[in-house]
Amino acid sequence: MKAPILQMKNIHKRFSSTIALDGVDLDAFPGEICGLIGENGSGKSTISSIAAGMQKADEGEMFFRGEPWSPVSMIDALEKGIGMIVQESGTISGISVAENLFLAEVKKFRKGPVVDREEMNRQADLALDAIGASDIRGNMPMSALDFQARKLVEIAKVVMKDPDVLVVDETSTALSHEGRNILYDVMRRFREEDKAVLFISHDLDEIMDVCDTLTVLRDGNLIRTFSKEEFNPDAIRMSMIGRELKGDYYRSDFIPSSLDEIALKGEDLSIPGELDGVDLTLRKGEIVGIGGLSHCGMHTLGKVLFGAIRPESGRVVTGDGSEIRDEGSSMKHNIGYVAKDRDTESLNLTASIRDNIAIAGLDRYAVSGFLLTAGNEKKYVDKQIADLSIKCSDRDQAVQQLSGGNKQKVVFGKWIGRGSDILILDCPTRGVDIGVKRDMYRLMSDMKKQGKAILIISEELPELIGMSDRLIIMKDGRITKEFTRSESLSDADVINYMI
Ligand SMILES: Nc1ncnc2c1ncn2[C@@H]1O[C@H](COP(=O)(O)OP(=O)(O)O)[C@@H](O)[C@H]1O
Ligand SMILES: [Mg+2]
Repeated sequence: MKAPILQMKNIHKRFSSTIALDGVDLDAFPGEICGLIGENGSGKSTISSIAAGMQKADEGEMFFRGEPWSPVSMIDALEKGIGMIVQESGTISGISVAENLFLAEVKKFRKGPVVDREEMNRQADLALDAIGASDIRGNMPMSALDFQARKLVEIAKVVMKDPDVLVVDETSTALSHEGRNILYDVMRRFREEDKAVLFISHDLDEIMDVCDTLTVLRDGNLIRTFSKEEFNPDAIRMSMIGRELKGDYYRSDFIPSSLDEIALKGEDLSIPGELDGVDLTLRKGEIVGIGGLSHCGMHTLGKVLFGAIRPESGRVVTGDGSEIRDEGSSMKHNIGYVAKDRDTESLNLTASIRDNIAIAGLDRYAVSGFLLTAGNEKKYVDKQIADLSIKCSDRDQAVQQLSGGNKQKVVFGKWIGRGSDILILDCPTRGVDIGVKRDMYRLMSDMKKQGKAILIISEELPELIGMSDRLIIMKDGRITKEFTRSESLSDADVINYMI
């Protein structure tokens, strides 16, 4: 067996009371793409960012090609042979692509008192060509690039330093098919050159496809490393969540709800260019799914039903005939809403878990309507944290520090704790791992049983088919089809009405 390029031994890391890594051993071998998988918060980013010099371990040893490895920063690590493409965007908007690529080394292009921009742009183009991103040029302003192109610039920036170990943290989720192929090609090239790749993703299919080995982390512990021959989705999932989980974790019943008490109704809703005469009825005790391509109008529809956007014509009314005109009337009628872009719309990231959850529930625990007691508030917030098993150090931790899945649980906690009777969920499981998804599906089923009405807007057909009593398909701002829950309904039946 070949010697590992990078060796990590007994790595420990804690953040106040959270143990992020509890003694992890991880090696990266030459000529191998090593996958790292685990639920949100399992420690993937922490272990890889320690290897790449972004933060320091509390305890443990690292070796790079047999020598002790202790980078002082990410730049230091990259210079010495380990480069990381981070989860959050790492480019600067106000300057050009070439300036981003050569940020720390502009002086390399200095000719007397001036910077030789032409040469810098030329070198930037070469670096971009090298990863196959020739649509992006060095002289372009960074602000002209979309999210995917920015990510590609980051990839070029790391790859041009020719590291021996490339760490890729949840980058592919930000990329389209084309962008992903660029990334996979880069990773394969590393393999061919006998270098190592550490690839982090929570997409099991993707990771099984591109990786040679797969290591599972759970709660800061390394659970198992699978070799390619051992790849088996059920076994991997089981080690990720620590108990058996069948491929199917949606509702198991196929009885569409037969209740007829109306919870919420949209009548002839139109917004030019977005919604075109949409009629929709949501009944108590029912889960209604809405599916379609991303610009079909379904996300706008969710906002209109919650009162966050006013339709040009048509109206939204509750079962007892009250009109929903704005978010205030929505809240008054116990309607909750989980936005697709949860970071900016649903959460105050810099505030604590406690503040985020407490705001929506204010009228529930405030005694006699206005007297807010700290004791009530704490009890209320702690209950939500326990009910949803939100993984955090305590209720006062900033939401910003939580993993994606746990942020999403805070959003749920806001609305569920308040006892919402109607929940409008826009892509509630986007970017969260299977364990959290399963918890959310269970919550939805429980709420349905309690007679609550749930509208789930989603870009994932399996979850729509798996959870909905009725599935409504939209295209170009209109409803094109409605399906009733049935065991035989398949993706193929539905897709035809979306495109
Ligand atoms: N800077 C930080 N401050 C406080 N807690 C953190 C910080 N970074 C990570 N954590 C916590 O450490 C645990 C592991 O996080 P992370 O490595 O980001 O997980 P993953 O990448 O697998 O989703 C989580 O519980 C997370 O909330
Ligand atoms: Mg992470």
